[in-house]
Amino acid sequence: MPPSRLFVAGAGIMGAGIAAQAALVGWEVDLYDVQQAFVDRGLQAVQKDVDRLVRKGKLTAEAGAVVRGRVRGTLELEPASKASVIMEAAPERMELKRELFRKFDALARPEALLGTNTSSLSITAIAASVKDPGRVVGIHFFNPVVAMELVEVIPGFRTRSEEVERAREFARGMGKTVTSSKDAPGFVTTRAMATLANEAIWMLHDGVATREDIDTAHKLGFHHPMGPLELADLVGLDTMLSVLERLYTGFRDPKYRACPLLVSMVEAGLLGRKSGEGFYRYEATPGAGTRPS
Ligand SMILES: NC(=O)c1ccc[n+]([C@@H]2O[C@H](COP(=O)([O-])OP(=O)(O)OC[C@H]3O[C@@H](n4cnc5c(N)ncnc54)[C@H](O)[C@@H]3O)[C@@H](O)[C@H]2O)c1
Repeated sequence: MPPSRLFVAGAGIMGAGIAAQAALVGWEVDLYDVQQAFVDRGLQAVQKDVDRLVRKGKLTAEAGAVVRGRVRGTLELEPASKASVIMEAAPERMELKRELFRKFDALARPEALLGTNTSSLSITAIAASVKDPGRVVGIHFFNPVVAMELVEVIPGFRTRSEEVERAREFARGMGKTVTSSKDAPGFVTTRAMATLANEAIWMLHDGVATREDIDTAHKLGFHHPMGPLELADLVGLDTMLSVLERLYTGFRDPKYRACPLLVSMVEAGLLGRKSGEGFYRYEATPGAGTRPS
């Protein structure tokens, strides 16, 4: 699929990352959110991704400026009517996603591909909110999008095979390697990751080990690039809790019950990196993202 125009709904961690990666490979991107402050935060995240690549010598400053210029922030859904791909990256809540897809349905070109970045919800149920559910595909990017190589592609029950192929082509064009999964709660990756993170949170809750020892044990014992508590902070503890609730209700299996420590932290507004504190505290360091302490 040659790069053309992409509409991304939700300018948070994932939406901004998808926008940055798409712009890097030549897409013109409209990055939508519901408040100007969120749009601005998303555009700053795109700028940070670009700056990081310039610092690493992977982009010249001039090329970086061109890439950044391809992403426009918007509070309007109307630019979705011009997109050849619409990607939803809004919070992990079914009703919110279905409401957005109903709006896309009214606006999107008939040939536009409709993708959702959900990490755990039913693609089939999201797709059922549009007139033609055959065009909706789960296109699951990983965090941080620019650095992570994988995209999981998930067809819903009624997704047409041509649309699945277009989704795979879109992801490959974004420079990613594609795997497929059935539309089961959490697909392959989120089911495994959330189970591990929840178990680590239970260990912290039970006093089995300190946060540092839990994370160090995973990094050095299993060669994981980051520990499960660090990963939970990166993902966002609210997103992690939504995912566990989806696994718990989707499989009706108590092994997915979210640790009460996670529930309390989300209730207290400790959401991980995005709120400045989760299992660790994060200091903003200008130009270099956040540093844990
Ligand atoms: N965080 C991760 O590591 C990760 C990884 C893969 C997939 N995902 C999935 O990606 C999606 C987005 O997650 P995130 O981590 O970017 O969340 P986030 O909380 O960082 O960002 C969500 C954004 O959506 C915006 N939003 C709220 N209501 C909206 C609406 N009606 N329309 C458009 N935008 C709206 C919010 O203002 C926020 O900026 C979720 O489905 C999540 O499960 C997350």
